[in-house]
Amino acid sequence: RKYFMIEKLNHVAIVVPDLMKAKLLYEGAFGAKVSDVKTLPEHGVSTMFVDLGSTKIEFLHPLSDVSPISRFLKKNPNGSIHHLCYEVESIKEAVKSLRELGLSILGDGTPKIGAHGNLVVFLHPKDFLGTLIELEQV
Ligand code: CO
Repeated sequence: RKYFMIEKLNHVAIVVPDLMKAKLLYEGAFGAKVSDVKTLPEHGVSTMFVDLGSTKIEFLHPLSDVSPISRFLKKNPNGSIHHLCYEVESIKEAVKSLRELGLSILGDGTPKIGAHGNLVVFLHPKDFLGTLIELEQV
């Protein structure tokens, strides 16, 4: 069996109730440089990020009640870590290998264009220690 390797941690995504409060907190408490807010209507979210060099923190906020993260925010009204994103060289190989192990890919398993313009898939938290995992082909 051919293994694929996860490479670096591309980002940690945190869903927050208020992007401006998160920005002030990270700037004030950590002296972090927080980006401007970017609205991604096709993903139903607003985002902003902190570039830490080796990885990023990505803040997410739902654009509406039908956003894929609005239920998550209702369950975690103060905000919470939503997913980890690992880089892979080939998303096709990754999906194939995970499927061979009987692990679940969310949706129909077809890679989609993610928030950063790269191909992504999400892996079900029930198979990964309670953590939603995003794989991104870079
Ligand atoms: Co992500």
